[in-house]
Parts: sequence; structure tokens; C-alpha cells
Amino acid sequence: MRILLLTHAFNSLTQRLAAELRQRGHLVSVEFDISDSVTEEAAALFAPDLIVAPYLRRAIPESVWSRHVCLIVHPGVVGDRGPSALDWAIDAGRRDWGVTVLQAEAEMDGGPVWASASLAMRPATKASLYRHEVTQAATTAVLQAVECFAAGNFVPQRPSSSQWQPLMKQAHRAIDWQQDDSATVLRKIDAADGFPGVVDTLFDQPCHVFDAWPESTLRGAPGEVLAQRETALLRATIDGAVWIGHVKRPGSIKLPATLAFAEEAAVVPHALLPDWWRAAAPTWQDIAYEESGGIGFLHFEFYNGAMSTRQCERLRDALVWAKQRPTRVLVLPGGLDFWSNGIHLNVIEAASLSGGSAADESWHNINAMNDLALELITTTQQITVAAIGGNAGAGGCFLARAADLVWVRDGVMLNPHYKNMGNLYGSEYWTYLLPRRVGQNAAQAIMHNRQPLTAHGALQLGLTDACLSGDVSAFRADVAAMAARLAAAPDLPGQLAAKTKSRARDEAAKPLAAYRNEEMAHMHRNFYGFDPSYHVARHHFVQKSLASWTPRHLARHRELGWKLP
Ligand code: COA
Repeated sequence: MRILLLTHAFNSLTQRLAAELRQRGHLVSVEFDISDSVTEEAAALFAPDLIVAPYLRRAIPESVWSRHVCLIVHPGVVGDRGPSALDWAIDAGRRDWGVTVLQAEAEMDGGPVWASASLAMRPATKASLYRHEVTQAATTAVLQAVECFAAGNFVPQRPSSSQWQPLMKQAHRAIDWQQDDSATVLRKIDAADGFPGVVDTLFDQPCHVFDAWPESTLRGAPGEVLAQRETALLRATIDGAVWIGHVKRPGSIKLPATLAFAEEAAVVPHALLPDWWRAAAPTWQDIAYEESGGIGFLHFEFYNGAMSTRQCERLRDALVWAKQRPTRVLVLPGGLDFWSNGIHLNVIEAASLSGGSAADESWHNINAMNDLALELITTTQQITVAAIGGNAGAGGCFLARAADLVWVRDGVMLNPHYKNMGNLYGSEYWTYLLPRRVGQNAAQAIMHNRQPLTAHGALQLGLTDACLSGDVSAFRADVAAMAARLAAAPDLPGQLAAKTKSRARDEAAKPLAAYRNEEMAHMHRNFYGFDPSYHVARHHFVQKSLASWTPRHLARHRELGWKLP
């Protein structure tokens, strides 16, 4: 079938659906929901058999849903209606929830149901639930609905009852620091994360707060800012304290809390952790090391997978330290939602907002990423494993490829390319790491086509080494078991010797420094050159500017010479 994905953005759910539908032989094209007339035009050009809307922020025009079957993905159970479905589910502390695929009609979320799938809720942010449980359930339900549609004789049913839940307002989300306990504060911030955040104040200044973490030992007067640790601020509640990782001040962008309130935080005491070992009790810890059965696990939980200069430097320090441990296998599980999305575009943008140079900050950040990648590539005493349980994009994919082995959870989307960010050339030694795995032609195609890859697709191309099924906990258990087998392998010393030899051979053929210099010559032009595309693209990305057109590599129906098959 010809299936048009009509969406607000090409987000990870849309990417996943596009890949799954293509894998099943459908011709898929994408159109961003820009205006009614643009949607009408896309429908006329592509003449889809079916329209699927994974992520919309407005209603589909009647001119389109009256002519085509349009299936809407609603992140709520059958009968649930309204724009804040997940927010209300988290707010109510629900243990089970669902995703419904229903047909667009005049009444919002009121159409007949084509398919639904249930999901188990977990204490997590809305965005995290969306990226894992909701995406999985939505994929199941959409594929089922598409099959029903293809069968031709399926009659979708209207739910026996339905309930409209209004947009969740900030008044409902508001935190009362003199009344709310830590669990309530965490739940309120989780229900609003990554968007819209909770309207609050810090240092008596208005802001939206995001990215909250529990603290188990430090205490203080309710509402008081007690401490800072790297990017996060600790604020006391009536029964403990919570860390606030990110804030958005009026007129600014979402930033690490200690950066957004740099001046105010200057006098706040630091509560640094003594070392890289995972703390015994829950607290905010972005880099955490664990060992089990002679295997090292270096976790890095960076919000949105974005890695600033300092985060790269700290992670490199942690890696250098972990490499000295008496282990034979070192696993890098990254973070829960993202393994890494490369350099920190918001922190880079902040440099220009505060009168500094975004080009300089970009340069420092990519150099720090490269130093980190180099440290990983040149590990000699351990077999290194990038265990990708959450999505990865751009430089984050190549940082993972710097490990000896890359194991990916089925369901993860990988975007191993840079050009979407204003034609950025990219670094992280990708010119060394990618072709040696997939060959020159495939490397060029990956970079040029700019398409997301599923875990299976990446494995088929030879970009990764394993694809493991299951949710994140099952994935982590499987990774630990596979790492244990690796560590126990009798030929492990032989494997380490072979890796050292192969690295020496590669270095003799062309030194890593040469790859880096060539890449950085391109990056220098991207950052400091005449063409401002990267700076413009980054600005729009962090400001979340509305799209004004759908890129050609997504909208097949807008390719030059497109004709209906
Ligand atoms: N720096 C700062 N923030 C980033 C980021 C980065 N490198 N990559 C993603 N984010 C943020 C997004 O702005 C968004 O923020 P929000 O919490 O305010 O919503 C959040 O992470 C999730 O991103 P989103 O695009 O919704 O996730 P996705 O899984 O649907 O898409 C990508 C993933 C990787 C395709 C997309 O985020 C992307 O293109 N990122 C930029 C990658 C890049 O160019 N890096 C620089 C070159 S190395």
C-alpha cells in the first residue's frame, strides 16, 4: 500500500513506524503537518491508500479525512480522549495504560477504533514512557490496524463509552514546596517532561523545571536550594529533597539548571560525589560505574543524550579510570532513553545567547567528543561493548562504534548521519569507523540518505554486532550475560592481542590523527566558514521552530519527477 505518515515532526515513533511499514513492503512517504493546504497537497500528490498520523498537534482537515481513511495514534486507552493523555495517566498513578489507533472524524479522538494495545506504566518521565512503552504499543497497534485495513472487510467499532480529558493546565501541575512531598514533586515534573515542564521559580526567578531525580540523604528547609552537583540543583521538599536537572527561563531555551542559573548558583554549595562508583542510595548521578563478575559497566545518563564539552571530558576521565580496573570486558550502557545524541546543541546555543561564540563552543565540544572516542578506540586491556538500549543519533552513533562491539536493543532507532544539522560534516572518527564496517559505498549512502536505521537494519548493514529483543531491563540482563560469556572465553587474551595488532596495522596504514585532522578541517568550515547553515539549523532545532516544509529525503511524493506508480 501507499501509506502517508502525517506528523508534526519526524520523531522517533514516526521513524520507527516508517521503518516497520517499509520492512513490510509498503511504500511510505512523510509529510509534516504544516497547514491544511499543504496536507491536502500531499494527499493529492501521493494519493495514499491510507494516512497514518503518529504525532499530531492539530486536527486533520475534513477535506482530507472525508476522502482518505486517516488513522490517529492516541497515547491513551480505548475511550480516552484529549490532548494530555499520558500526563493524566502519570498524574493518576496508573499502573496500566494503552495506545489506541482510531479513525479521524470531526470530533477529536471520537472516531471508531481500528486497534489498541496495552502497556505497563513505570515511574518515569512522560518522554521516557513515550520513547519506550508507548512507542512499542503504538507500533503493535498501528501494524495491526494496517493489516485490518488491508484485509478490506474490517469494520472499526466505536467505544461503548468515552471520556474527554482536557489539556492539563499549569495550575494543576504547580508544585507547592511547603506542602508537596518528594514523591508528589517527582510525579508532577515527570508528567510534564520533556514538554511543557512545570511552571515554578528558582532563586525567586520564574522558570519551567524538568528532569527531576530523587535524593535520599540530603535535607533542608522546604523550598530551599540546598546544593548543586554538576548540571543539577537540589531543592528541599517537606520530607527530603529532589534534584532539578534542567530548566527553561522565560525567553531562553531548555538548559542544564546550573548553567541557566549560573550567577545565582555561584554561592550554592557543591555536593560532589567522591568517585565514579554508583552511589549506594538514590541520588542524581550522571556518570555511574558498577562492576559485576569481573565486568565493568560505565553508565552515562545525560539528559536527551546531549553531551556538552564538560560532560565529554568527565566521561573521558571516568573511562580512563575504568580502564585501569582489573576487568576484561567494559560495557557502556549509556542512558536509559538515549545512548548519545552527540554534541550538546542547547549548551552551544547558550554560548551565543550569553554573548559568547557558538562556533568556539562547537569546536570545544567536538574536540572533547573526539578525545572521548579516541580513548575508547585505543583501549587495549578490555574488550569494550557499547550496549545501546535507547536511541542514538549523529556523533552518538559513531562514539558507540568506537567500541569493539555494538549491541543494540530491538526497537531502538539509530541515526548515524550528520547532514540534517545544516550539512554538518561530522567527526568522532566516523571516516575511520564507518567504512571499515560497512564499506565505502554503504558509508556514503548512509551519510547521504540521512535515513534512520532500525536495530535489525543496522545489523544487516554490518554497522553493529548484535540485535537483542526485549525491553530495557531484559536487554540489560542479556547484555550482562553476553558480556560474562565474553569475559570467560578462553581465547579472550587472543582476542585482545588480535585487536591490538589490528589497531597497529590500521595506524600504520593511516594514523587516527590524520582522520581527525581531515574531519576537523571540514568541521572548522562548518563552524567558522562563510556558509552559516549549521548555525541556522542548530538555532531552529533548539528553538523548536515550526517546520515550514518537509525535507525531500522524507517526502517521496515531493521528489523531482515523482509520478504515481
Ligand atoms: N543536543 C541538545 N539537545 C538534543 C540533541 C543534541 N544533540 N539531540 C536531541 N536533543 C533534544 C531535543 O531537542 C529534544 O528536546 P526536548 O526534551 O526539549 O523535547 C529531545 O532531545 C528529544 O529529541 P527528539 O528529536 O524529540 O528525539 P527523537 O528520538 O525523536 O530524535 C534525533 C532523535 C537524534 C534524530 C534528533 O534528536 C536529532 O536530530 N538530534 C540532533 C543530533 C545532532 O545533530 N547532533 C549534533 C551533531 S553530533
